Amino acid sequence: MGSASTYVAAIDQGTTSTRAMIFDHQGRVVSSEQIEHEQIFPRAGWVEHDASEIWRNTRRVAAAALASVDLKHGDIAACGLTNQRETTLIWDRETGEPIHNAIVWQDTRTNDLCRELAGDVGVDRYRDRTGLPLSTYFAGPKIRWLLDSVDGARERAEAGELCFGTMDSWTAWNMTGGPDGGLHITDVTNASRTMLMDLRTLAWDEEICAEMGIPTALLPEIRSSSEVYGPLREHGSLPGVPLAGILGDQQAATFGQACLDPGEAKNTYGTGNFLLLNTGTEPVFSDHGLLTTVCYRIGDQRARYALEGSIAVTGSLVQWLRDNLGLFTHASEIETLAASVEDNGDTYFVPAFSGLFAPRWRPDARGVIVGLTRFVNKGHLARAALEASAFQTREVIEAMQADSGVELSTLKVDGGMVVNDLLMQFQADILDVPVVRPVVNETTALGAAYAAGLAVGYWESEDEIRANWAEDRRWEPQMGDDERDRLYTGWNRAVEHSLDLG
Ligand code: G3P
Repeated sequence: MGSASTYVAAIDQGTTSTRAMIFDHQGRVVSSEQIEHEQIFPRAGWVEHDASEIWRNTRRVAAAALASVDLKHGDIAACGLTNQRETTLIWDRETGEPIHNAIVWQDTRTNDLCRELAGDVGVDRYRDRTGLPLSTYFAGPKIRWLLDSVDGARERAEAGELCFGTMDSWTAWNMTGGPDGGLHITDVTNASRTMLMDLRTLAWDEEICAEMGIPTALLPEIRSSSEVYGPLREHGSLPGVPLAGILGDQQAATFGQACLDPGEAKNTYGTGNFLLLNTGTEPVFSDHGLLTTVCYRIGDQRARYALEGSIAVTGSLVQWLRDNLGLFTHASEIETLAASVEDNGDTYFVPAFSGLFAPRWRPDARGVIVGLTRFVNKGHLARAALEASAFQTREVIEAMQADSGVELSTLKVDGGMVVNDLLMQFQADILDVPVVRPVVNETTALGAAYAAGLAVGYWESEDEIRANWAEDRRWEPQMGDDERDRLYTGWNRAVEHSLDLG
């Protein structure tokens, strides 16, 4: 081991919660603390977070993760940071005060703006430079909305008084900050989700910024995903510990799953589902509705790219059944409820709450439940909700196979929902490929820890990361072809209804 300190810490600033974790050299979890934050829904289709609440939670979980295992900052070799991507915040450079709540990646308020920007050229106007279609999902249009909607924001942005950041930038700014604020940085993976970065040069694209009406004075410096950015602030619980890794959460999970060679893929079941395929040192552009994104960049090595299938709503549908319909009290109860019936009772649930993301990119689609009869009970609804994650995953895998020509042999999975045995078996069945879960399922935080640990020599090479990966459980397909086809046809019919509402 290249360092006297024995552990690496990671902060995972996610969509529903913020978590601090501590890992040992084998990549095992030593400590983990998590606090949920409020989801703010000011209007239909709008989703916001209070960034000050998130920063308070970050401080609390970091302190608690150390205290619960009686560690001191001197025991920590480095800290990594990973985050919900695209969620957009602007704050005052002088006071550090946000000028508005953060606009969350799921928020669709920029739909008209995106349509306007697409104009006659269409949604692929910036795809060859950014890898992304014009969509409400990405940060650029959200920045534009904030500058247009908050009094005085545009003038202050032009005068250099404001900072834009996704949640990595906000957290890094605060974690490294003294009274005058900290580093205003982002990493290449997060920057690749703004629609403002050129995928090949890895620099802000001034032409796109100008066309979107975004002054470049707002933007953070783009850094690699693994390097020493600077020491953490003196007044925090990790004073002087180097902040040394930053990755968007899905890229971090890809790294944590050791998908380090071209052709390796993982699927994370979080608030949404995100399937990333490492395509190596060249960006591969999609003809089938996938995104091209930066996978990671270690120091000054060449960047690695990925094809991504992003699904907006999977785990958050379970939350919705819990919070909005009161179908159960704890999210984990959905499995028992779904197992109380033999099948979906011919019911399909298309959770297009933020429109449909990959591979269709239809912001106007809306959620539907189809196939209801008097026979259907809440068990069937629970089952249809779980199955929706698996059907949507099949859609993005089909797109990925069509784009890359690579047949998937197994699917590596992680994230909150992969403890759900019924869902994992159904996923293997509907894909007709085995589904594999690693021993350390916390791959998002682990990936950020790996990036930080590599930068300070705690881990010496990517081979150590590969060696740490171990299989925990595997689900083999058991379903017959006819049944698989029947179910997938039913799903596709339901999606047509969801699109009809657009
Ligand atoms: O692109 C959005 C994604 O980064 C959110 O991930 O795990 O916070 O739902 P998660």
